[in-house]
Amino acid sequence: GLVEHDFNVTWVLHNPDGLRLRPVIGINDYWPPPAIRVAVGDRLVVHVHNLLGNQSTSLHFHGLFLENATHMDGAVQVSQCAIPPGSSLTYNFTIHQPGTYWYHSHGSGQYPDGLRAPLLVHDPDPPFAFNEEHVISLSDWYHDEMPGLLAGFISKSNPTGAEPVPQSVLLNDTTSIDIPFKNSRHKTHVYLIHVVNVGAFAGQYLWFEGHNMTVVEVDGVYTQPQTASMLYLTAGQRYSFLLTAHNDSASAVGNFPFVASMDTTMFDTVPPGLQYNATGWLVYDVRRPLPPPALLASDAFDAGSPLLLDDAALVPHDAIPLLGEPDVAVELNVNMQTRRDGTNYAFFNNITYLHPVVPTLYTVLSANASNSGSSNADGGPEDARIYGTYTQTAVIQRRGQIVQLVVNNLDVGRHPFHLHGHNFQIVYRSAANAGTFDPVANASLLPAATATPIRRDSLLIFPNGFAVLRFRADNPGVWLFHCHIEWHLATGLVATFVEAPVELQQQYAPSSGISSVPADHLAVCAAA
Ligand code: C2O
Repeated sequence: GLVEHDFNVTWVLHNPDGLRLRPVIGINDYWPPPAIRVAVGDRLVVHVHNLLGNQSTSLHFHGLFLENATHMDGAVQVSQCAIPPGSSLTYNFTIHQPGTYWYHSHGSGQYPDGLRAPLLVHDPDPPFAFNEEHVISLSDWYHDEMPGLLAGFISKSNPTGAEPVPQSVLLNDTTSIDIPFKNSRHKTHVYLIHVVNVGAFAGQYLWFEGHNMTVVEVDGVYTQPQTASMLYLTAGQRYSFLLTAHNDSASAVGNFPFVASMDTTMFDTVPPGLQYNATGWLVYDVRRPLPPPALLASDAFDAGSPLLLDDAALVPHDAIPLLGEPDVAVELNVNMQTRRDGTNYAFFNNITYLHPVVPTLYTVLSANASNSGSSNADGGPEDARIYGTYTQTAVIQRRGQIVQLVVNNLDVGRHPFHLHGHNFQIVYRSAANAGTFDPVANASLLPAATATPIRRDSLLIFPNGFAVLRFRADNPGVWLFHCHIEWHLATGLVATFVEAPVELQQQYAPSSGISSVPADHLAVCAAA
């Protein structure tokens, strides 16, 4: 079917945590923006009209692969130009993946000002049974607007490079939510809960009292059912899990708290009085009290705690085996630096990403294909140099090649990395302080990895640790790989994959160059 939306992007005044009324970016004069609901096979059409007046915008559909539609990916100066105030642009693509996703602005550090919401893709035939479903979004929240926070973060008056600390945690964009839970002595009621961390920075722990979660989906990939007491979601990550209602009488059961708790180890300082937890309740009986949560021992939050689900140990329901030996090896070393002038930037391989003037996709489509050849240094679309010195571009020449991406986190902080256009197999992820991946010394780690590794599109890498990831280049396009902490994305922790550029040019044929990109997409470049 067709699901069509008109989104006027507008400033709205809102006070989601009850502590500060502030301008937020909403849709159609309302905040929070609506969750988008579609079904597998649907075509989604979103007409975006930028009525902000003072800021450009875009929408990215996080986790959707956009096969044959890389120009709909929404990444500013990568797959499109930003939509300037007063302009419109239509996103239009077909969705093939079931599960839990989200959409957000993808430019200028904008989405934490409010332009983000869940996107759920209904599956008529999922590999598990349930009676009802709910979605929970988790988010850190700032009282100040992003442009000022970002300038302060970068500036030399922030000598430690500390990221701004959020003021609150939101559950479904408010301070607390109740989820009505049914019970019956005769029938067990099962709830499917989708959870998305739409926040800017903080990882979130999530746990429910009195109920175990049975995880069935991670970032759009069905898993073999896995029981968990506690989840950790970085910015950008999603899970779906089943909660089974108790089937004693409601009055005997009472009500149960659940808690979303920010990972305060990511903050350089924890301001006194910071409300880093938000509590909701599973409400079986409205007449009974809502008990406060019991506090957990702090070691419950440590990586390796038996309470905490290890996402790398999940098993995909489709049991797709480990990809074979890679054709293309990419290594990215993560580094946060205070530059000599005192400003703070983030680096992959000592390059801090700067947006190219022309979106990278348009550079691919305009490159002279007749210069495509085996040298990859001839100015053709496979020549990484044409994408600019500050864009950290890896070119995957041909569709079907297996890419191994090694990420070495040389930083003392946790970083959640996200890949556009794909998910990746987690071949191996080290604990904190494991150092860098050495293909010889660490070779034995890889066969030791599971034969059917889990895939996801957003992954936490621990401080001074590393990850080895693989994916098959089966989706010609221009795709970002970046840290999903908005402070780090905005200061350059970004790499670009140009995937099968010659085939991509053919996809956009018969018109040559960029003229086969929809006119409204090209028009926003001219309007800017
Ligand atoms: Cu959710 Cu490149 O982003």
